Amino acid sequence: MPSVNNTIQLITRAEAERQGTRGRPGRAQESCDDDLAKGPWEFDLAEALAGTPGYGPGASNADTAPVETPRQGQLPQEYKDASDDELTVRIMAAKAELGDRVVILGHFYQRDEVVKFADFLGDSFQLANAAKARDAAEAIVFCGVHFMAETADMLSGAHQSVILPNLAAGCSMADMADLPSVEACWAQLEELYGTEPDAAGRVPVIPVTYMNSSAALKAFCGEHGGIVCTSSNAATVLEWAYERGQRVLFFPDQHLGRNTAKAMGIPLEHMPLWNPRLPLGGNTPAVMDNAKVVLWQGFCSVHKRFTTAQIDQARADFPGVRVIVHPECPMEVVDAADESGSTDYILKAVQAAPDGTTFAIGTEINMVNRLAAQYPQHTIFCLDPVICPCSTMYRIHPGYLAWVLEGLVRGEVLNQITVPEATAVHARVALERMLAARPRSVQESAERQAAARDQRGTAGVREPAAAGAPGA
Ligand code: 13P
Ligand code: SF4
Repeated sequence: MPSVNNTIQLITRAEAERQGTRGRPGRAQESCDDDLAKGPWEFDLAEALAGTPGYGPGASNADTAPVETPRQGQLPQEYKDASDDELTVRIMAAKAELGDRVVILGHFYQRDEVVKFADFLGDSFQLANAAKARDAAEAIVFCGVHFMAETADMLSGAHQSVILPNLAAGCSMADMADLPSVEACWAQLEELYGTEPDAAGRVPVIPVTYMNSSAALKAFCGEHGGIVCTSSNAATVLEWAYERGQRVLFFPDQHLGRNTAKAMGIPLEHMPLWNPRLPLGGNTPAVMDNAKVVLWQGFCSVHKRFTTAQIDQARADFPGVRVIVHPECPMEVVDAADESGSTDYILKAVQAAPDGTTFAIGTEINMVNRLAAQYPQHTIFCLDPVICPCSTMYRIHPGYLAWVLEGLVRGEVLNQITVPEATAVHARVALERMLAARPRSVQESAERQAAARDQRGTAGVREPAAAGAPGA
């Protein structure tokens, strides 16, 4: 039997319940897409035959992949046919032979079958730092998605090569903003607000891009006095931006932008949503006059699946449950949860909790399942009862990892991610600003959230005018 995603395969075979595998206690598990039980290489082939790229099975399957999205060529048959055990032996042998010449970085959302080979596992912020710090390795194999590998390339040394084991591991949210659309937006903002600083020296607009964006957009921010943020330091980054600018253009994730700005006390009516297909983003000049943060109309299809109804259900099933969601979730979900935070925040919150805590977690399923397995002293389940992984993280599989590592053993660098220096030079400016904006500690972050929640309890919450907009 060739290796596929073991958890998904078990679910698809309806064995999860019988074997007592991970998942929501007391609830049958189903997956969002039967194709998850196939090897990711089946989708490389389907894309090659169709001539169009796709994201593969999982939560972002229905998103539209831009035509220029990188596609993965055919994985040699031997890697498709290999069993889990065979791939493990081959990967370990290649790692042993390469020694310190290679470092494998993994994002928390990677499947367990890949995570077990990672030398370092982390969130986007930590992985960017890790790429910068691993100077001794000739090759950085990045088990994550394309924008993370681009960032690793820009932050690592010229003597290092960064490898993405499957080129189709992109990010549908990152693909929702491209350079021409952001430039067109910027031109309209300059026309509206001018380019001169105010009396306090603050420029009209600071561009802030989420880490989940192309290198070209990071370069745009570097060139225009802006900065990159991750979900762990978004609040610190927005503070940085408001010290220097009167307002912020935040792309591509509207939800992270809205949730972070709202927690800073910015009213929803000062957060217009920008639809790149409409003049003025679909807003009136009066609305734009009042803008404090202009939110790009992007979103993550994994985190969009979480709902307040799921939170209500979790609270009904498990009184006292602690609900933690990722800030890529819609605002009403973040508001209804007990806490929100990056993947590292979620991990640290679980680690610090007293034994016997019950957690309902709103983030990608591979990470939630791993937490449930690693911290058996707690009850941990995913808010979404349907197993639905990030479709692009899913594209990385031990078969591709074995292929690129064995390539390195032969002296061949496969699937190298290289950002042109003309782009990287500007993107690094924005990335270095981001690395200087340290994330708040879990404790400080939790305290601030609790204080904001108390305040909201007395002041009430208003729904955003744009919450029902198409694509939200
Ligand atoms: P973090 O790891 O920064 O929390 O981001 C989550 C994510 O969506 C990565 O794609
Ligand atoms: Fe992109 Fe969402 Fe997947 Fe993260 S979880 S890589 S934001 S699609």
